[in-house]
Amino acid sequence: MYRKDSVAKEGDAGFPVESIRKRFPILHQEVNGRPLVYLDNAATSQKPLSVIQALNQYYSTDNANIHRGAHALAARATDQFERTRQMVKSFINSPSEEQVIFTKGTTEGINLVASSFGRKFIQEGDEIIISAMEHHSNIVPWQMLCEEKGAELKVIPITDEGELILETYEKLLTPKTKLVAIQHVSNALGTVHPISGIIEKAHEVGAKVLVDAAQSSSHFLVDVQALDCDFLAFSAHKLYGPTGLGILYGKRELLEVMPPYQGGGEMIKEVDFDGTTFNDIPFKFEAGTPNIADVIAFQKALEFIQELGKDRILAHENELLSYATDKLGSIKGFIPVGTASQKVSVLSFLINGMHPFDVGMMLDAMGIAVRTGHHCAQPLMKRFNIEGTVRASFAVYNTKQEIDTLYNSLSRIAKRKN
Ligand code: ALA
Repeated sequence: MYRKDSVAKEGDAGFPVESIRKRFPILHQEVNGRPLVYLDNAATSQKPLSVIQALNQYYSTDNANIHRGAHALAARATDQFERTRQMVKSFINSPSEEQVIFTKGTTEGINLVASSFGRKFIQEGDEIIISAMEHHSNIVPWQMLCEEKGAELKVIPITDEGELILETYEKLLTPKTKLVAIQHVSNALGTVHPISGIIEKAHEVGAKVLVDAAQSSSHFLVDVQALDCDFLAFSAHKLYGPTGLGILYGKRELLEVMPPYQGGGEMIKEVDFDGTTFNDIPFKFEAGTPNIADVIAFQKALEFIQELGKDRILAHENELLSYATDKLGSIKGFIPVGTASQKVSVLSFLINGMHPFDVGMMLDAMGIAVRTGHHCAQPLMKRFNIEGTVRASFAVYNTKQEIDTLYNSLSRIAKRKN
């Protein structure tokens, strides 16, 4: 059964966007002589002052290495670090904090699973399923693994609208399928996939499922127990948190039997030249000094999201997306790329007769930040027979006035060729 997993479509008239904007210092500047309009949130979101101040505070008062010092600063840093793990546990509804592993980002989380789970459980002749819409970070690690193991990578095709062809997905699933690695939301098109049904179907053939939640976790509730996913990876920096930090969730019974990803300090119980015993989860997967300051500062980003409420955030973003889709759609020469029925935050498009890079540069000259190019999804661009798109992506602090500015600028740009 493929349910529609997205929620809340209605706008929130009382949404306090102006006071939210005041909490993001970076938004209040001019770029190329115009007020900044930041619409590149799918690449990275901006940070509230509370996150910036938490970084400053940590380095000013608490900096120490964690889990290994007997002194007061080490104890404070360790407590704060582990407090974030508790908060992430609640944020994704993980059954325990031991199943929350800190990584560098979504990419490292996926690579960890490919290296560790893949090394142990993928054999010659096995099959791994991904989709034609994946980010390179959810393609290349599986290609490398399949090449090493003699396994086969199968790809779920997509429609012209940018939706997965689920009938084909079901046909691709066989007892040979060991893993389905799939994004929750497309970074390039904004399509929200019916992830619960995809997971259910994979489990029917005994396959495990890794969900790339890089583009969903900032927009709506992601509950790992309700989804019943086996692994889920996301990045803090798309969630108003610092860069260089990600989270990998895994089911306990898998994490416990998976070999370590990297060797080093922290991931061991005892080291001898005759052999080494490994630490318990999550530490088995956290070799070396982690990104302590950013982990601690991430608490403030999670508090910010909790304070606003995910449903309200999603309702606001959906209202912006629907307003932008209608408004920009009226521009002569505007070609939307990706028109799925379930979308979040992302509007990808082309302007007839113009290269996306040129459109992006002209928008930048008007103070508007969008992403242009293939969005690390080259196979998707090839599927649409294009080199890339212009992508506007919305976050909690964006406004309809900013979309009006984008509309006015794009109208002028499009007029040159249309
Ligand atoms: N994956 C990020 C994006 O889509 C960087 O822009």
